[in-house]
Amino acid sequence: MMALPLLGAIFLLPSCESDPDSPGKEFMPDMYRSPAIETYVDYGEIRGRENKGLKSKLSARQTPKYTIPFVGTDETHVKMMMPNRYKAGKAWEASHGLFGWDLSEKSEYEMTRNDTVNPYKLDASNAKRILAEGKALYSSMCMHCHGEKGDGNGPMIQSGAYGDLGVVPAYKSLDTLSEGKIFHSIYYGKGYMGAHGSLLNKKEIWTLVHYVRQFQVDDYGKEEEVAEDKIEDSEEKPESVETEEEDTK
Ligand code: HEC
Repeated sequence: MMALPLLGAIFLLPSCESDPDSPGKEFMPDMYRSPAIETYVDYGEIRGRENKGLKSKLSARQTPKYTIPFVGTDETHVKMMMPNRYKAGKAWEASHGLFGWDLSEKSEYEMTRNDTVNPYKLDASNAKRILAEGKALYSSMCMHCHGEKGDGNGPMIQSGAYGDLGVVPAYKSLDTLSEGKIFHSIYYGKGYMGAHGSLLNKKEIWTLVHYVRQFQVDDYGKEEEVAEDKIEDSEEKPESVETEEEDTK
């Protein structure tokens, strides 16, 4: 019975400090101040403790080749993440920095012509949400070159920063481009446009394919929207996509 107060005294007394600003002895400092674990940092030495095995190793690296992100149980989502069927050409190593990528001798862009269709199906129930997701991605990754209206006249082009390098085409002028080609170009890059395959996952790219289409085809996805839409929006409401009165309740 004496043991408890004794134990208390052993643990509590060392915490006493005369300085009112001092926390006293910390038994588990990591619980108060966790070592900052950040990406791309060498963790070979933390607080004077050296771990030779970790020296000069980055904590976040490219996932191994052919890794398929497997998120949730949604089969269509997982299917969308399967490795790309068509490859970019060897020349993309130097032109678009695709070192270590699985490339073929020649670009397979032309092969994507007819048989690749957007696996992220857009229909009455999800058109608004998909286009809103597309708009969010487009605004942060594409708009500075392609322009808000997809006319190829984004702020980077207007500012002259892009010089007379490639001209950014207006999407309207590419309305015969297949979905597979649009995907391929976003994934691997084309001409003066960089590759986005390591920045966006495949679902995001297919979302952008819808968003690009929406610039090319009048009323893309709108027709369906007239129908009773039962969007169960878990995501935030986009301000951007023109919406009719929502009475989803
Ligand atoms: C640095 C500027 C820049 C950025 C950022 C950019 N693009 Fe491009 N994009 C271009 C240029 C330049 C071309 C013309 C490429 C060519 O045909 O030589 C192009 C072409 C395209 C094409 C036509 C491809 C084809 O097969 O003809 C599509 C579609 C496209 N971009 C979509 C996107 C999307 C979506 C994003 C955002 C993820 C994006 N671009 C980001 C500059 C850019």
